[in-house]
Amino acid sequence: MAIVLDRRITPRGEVVLRREGAALQVIANGVFLMSTAGGGASERLLVRAALRGLRAPMHVLIGGLGAGFSLVEAVRHPAVRRVTVVEVEKAIIDWHRTYFRQVTAAAIDDPRVKVVHADLVDWLDDAAGTVDAVCLDADNGPDWTVVPRNAQLYGDAGLRTLSSVITPDGALSVWSAAAAEEFEQRLRRHFGVVEIHTVVVQRGEPDHVYVARRSHGNCM
Ligand SMILES: C[S@@+](CC[C@H](N)C(=O)[O-])C[C@H]1O[C@@H](n2cnc3c(N)ncnc32)[C@H](O)[C@@H]1O
Repeated sequence: MAIVLDRRITPRGEVVLRREGAALQVIANGVFLMSTAGGGASERLLVRAALRGLRAPMHVLIGGLGAGFSLVEAVRHPAVRRVTVVEVEKAIIDWHRTYFRQVTAAAIDDPRVKVVHADLVDWLDDAAGTVDAVCLDADNGPDWTVVPRNAQLYGDAGLRTLSSVITPDGALSVWSAAAAEEFEQRLRRHFGVVEIHTVVVQRGEPDHVYVARRSHGNCM
């Protein structure tokens, strides 16, 4: 039986925070968005896989704070000098100062971390060449976005913008609750090298993590 802890109306609709047993859950406009149950194995992998092989010191951008598992993973990495988290919902940021402290307290208070209340789609416009790893966890996947506007992040224009934000040897990782084959091909066209990681989850189809890096000379 889930208990509603808070409910906010935002410009994008309604976000609800619930507790079910020990797990915190967030529902946006009736769609299940995230839960602390399971410990965030694929969200942690999203960061670890992107950082693998990058040179220090690093600036990591996390698109979507969510339950905070990606942020926790980023601050664990000793070569990370700076973490910027862009989160569109003020309610989610507030809940990390209260209910989600069980997950992110140490990470949120880390001096390398800055949480920005903004829409990632807009924030990226002023970020050219500043980030070594972009970890995109703003949606349930490229084919299942939280709001229609986020779809542009995964199209050709969005990938061009994301590519412009990432330093030449940097990486882009993208979280998805399902395989996204067309997106994978697009990613390959823009970056050259794409790794796909899967993580088994209870609900059925595995979580997918796409990691893209530029092959030598590849730039669209
Ligand atoms: C789907 S949740 C992350 C789910 C995560 N994979 C999990 O299972 O815990 C997405 C997060 O990104 C945020 N978000 C969605 N669109 C965004 C945008 N355009 N800019 C910044 N944050 C965004 C949401 O408010 C939410 O906190």
